[in-house]
Amino acid sequence: MQPVLDYLKQHQDRFLGELCEYLRFASISAQPQHKPDLIACAEWLVTHCQQIGLDARLCATAGHPIVVAKTKRTKGSAKPHFMVYGHYDVQPPEPLDLWTTPPFEPRITGRNLFARGSTDNKGQNFAHLKAIEAYLKTETPLPCDLTLVIEGEEEVGSKSLSGFLKQNRKELACEAVVISDTGMPSPQHPALTYALRGIIAFEITLHGPDRDLHSGIFGGAVENPAMALAQLLAQVRDKFGVIQIPGFYEDVESLSHFEREENRRYPMTDAQLIKLLGAPELFGEHGYTPTEQRSARPTFEINGLTSGYQGEGSKTIVPAWARAKITCRLVPNQNPAHIRQIVCDWLKEKCPATVQMEVTAGHGAEAYLFSPKSPQAQAALRALQKAFNRKPILIREGGSIPIVNEFKQILGADSLLLGIGLPDDNAHSPNEKFSLDCFENGQRMGAYLWQELAAAA
Ligand code: BES
Ligand code: MN
Repeated sequence: MQPVLDYLKQHQDRFLGELCEYLRFASISAQPQHKPDLIACAEWLVTHCQQIGLDARLCATAGHPIVVAKTKRTKGSAKPHFMVYGHYDVQPPEPLDLWTTPPFEPRITGRNLFARGSTDNKGQNFAHLKAIEAYLKTETPLPCDLTLVIEGEEEVGSKSLSGFLKQNRKELACEAVVISDTGMPSPQHPALTYALRGIIAFEITLHGPDRDLHSGIFGGAVENPAMALAQLLAQVRDKFGVIQIPGFYEDVESLSHFEREENRRYPMTDAQLIKLLGAPELFGEHGYTPTEQRSARPTFEINGLTSGYQGEGSKTIVPAWARAKITCRLVPNQNPAHIRQIVCDWLKEKCPATVQMEVTAGHGAEAYLFSPKSPQAQAALRALQKAFNRKPILIREGGSIPIVNEFKQILGADSLLLGIGLPDDNAHSPNEKFSLDCFENGQRMGAYLWQELAAAA
């Protein structure tokens, strides 16, 4: 092991340069005009994996390509097999004017690297790649076989990956999937995430008059779709933050005493959270702490709200339509299809006859929960302890990685969520960054992990 750790220590400057190259690709999966950037990024990754000694290939899909890279297998060896999952696609960087420097021109300030995708997820998956490189380049035998799967559609729902898993079920069958695409509460608190929230996404559009109307000539005698939408959405929750849709909480399991106690150890005060968010106050479902509200309770969020005139100055109209983009975060035991049904039925029932509602369904995924007591989880905790030199904590997180359910269903493998992002990394926000300390410790975690996991297999 020592040569691996020494190698990592000696090559940090080069690793950083390489990560910057990786971050220069504008691999924005949601925007069709960036298709060539996604392909170029995936090709760069394949070449990089080959250079460090992996067997790597680009797998074309109906969407963006998937990169698969494997350690060279020795015939007849019966080593345990683990998969590392990550994504090279990134969220759109807009609004651009809020970035201090351009999102695809990586900038290092102190111990932080700023760029879109730095923490979510290029920096995190690159740490694993560098740990594997250290084994290969120092000719330290790996105690297990490894396959890296790095996809390009995570931020848009991983549509191609599930088919890919089914087609390559045999090749990808493994003991567990290791994923660094989540967070840790602070640089002093490495963490194993044992639960993620699920999600349903949809859009509702309320149609009123068949065109924008003069609000002086007709306003007052016809429904205003923007007002109707505001009134409809306002009924979704009460002043205590409780969602009013009957059945919404029906299948939610209440938190055990043990979990509530664990949650209290999450190292962030309300004042720190307010400061981090830059919000005037906190608001959340009555009866739960902010940590619980943002990881273990379901939500209904408006992600976008559009209607009428958005340009400069005023324009006196009654808009023809109003639209809301909505997602609900789900917790374990809630069924995404069922929640989608009851939420959409309820909205239709409450919608006045003065407008016509159109609903467009988006992606959906169940929440994820696994036992932090399993031997694999314990092995991961040991690797965290060694890499960070701190006692790791157990956390639930509120984000979603829909594909983890399919790793379980299709490959029979649990996912070990070992995130090295920080709460102030600005994932999905302007000025996204990645801590270089997390990058380095993450590489060390990767190095220790294969020893610990193989021993526990
Ligand atoms: N890395 C995140 C998920 C995440 C972040 C989990 C922090 C836990 C803590 C991932 O890239 C992501 O953003 N996922 C989307 C999924 C959605 C597009 C289906 C999300 O959670 O919004
Ligand atoms: Mn993301």
